[in-house]
Amino acid sequence: MKKIIFITSLLLVVTISYATSDEELFYTKCTQCHGEGIILNKKYDKSTWKKTVKKMKSYGANISSSESKKIVDYLVKNAGE
Ligand code: HEC
Repeated sequence: MKKIIFITSLLLVVTISYATSDEELFYTKCTQCHGEGIILNKKYDKSTWKKTVKKMKSYGANISSSESKKIVDYLVKNAGE
């Protein structure tokens, strides 16, 4: 029983730190040129977020393709349609 509780709390910690890192990535990469307000007040679907992140890269945002995937996931969850 103790083992199960231990494993469950371990999984919880891993999940929470994973979720935080997406959020941190978003705040680090997306609030350099403007605030998060103009982003999080939008309601875009996944393909629009993909296009928007691409557009930000063309403005000079320094984001790798694995990072943009995580950021798009974060945006769909927090500013999705
Ligand atoms: C290099 C500077 C820069 C960075 C970094 C940046 N942006 Fe932008 N962003 C801009 C500029 C300039 C505009 C205003 C021009 C426009 O509306 O297209 C803008 C406007 C926006 C808008 C409103 C316009 C629209 O298309 O809906 C959104 C949403 C947005 N940014 C999201 C993001 C996200 C998400 C990130 C992180 C992946 C990000 N931005 C990072 C420069 C940047």
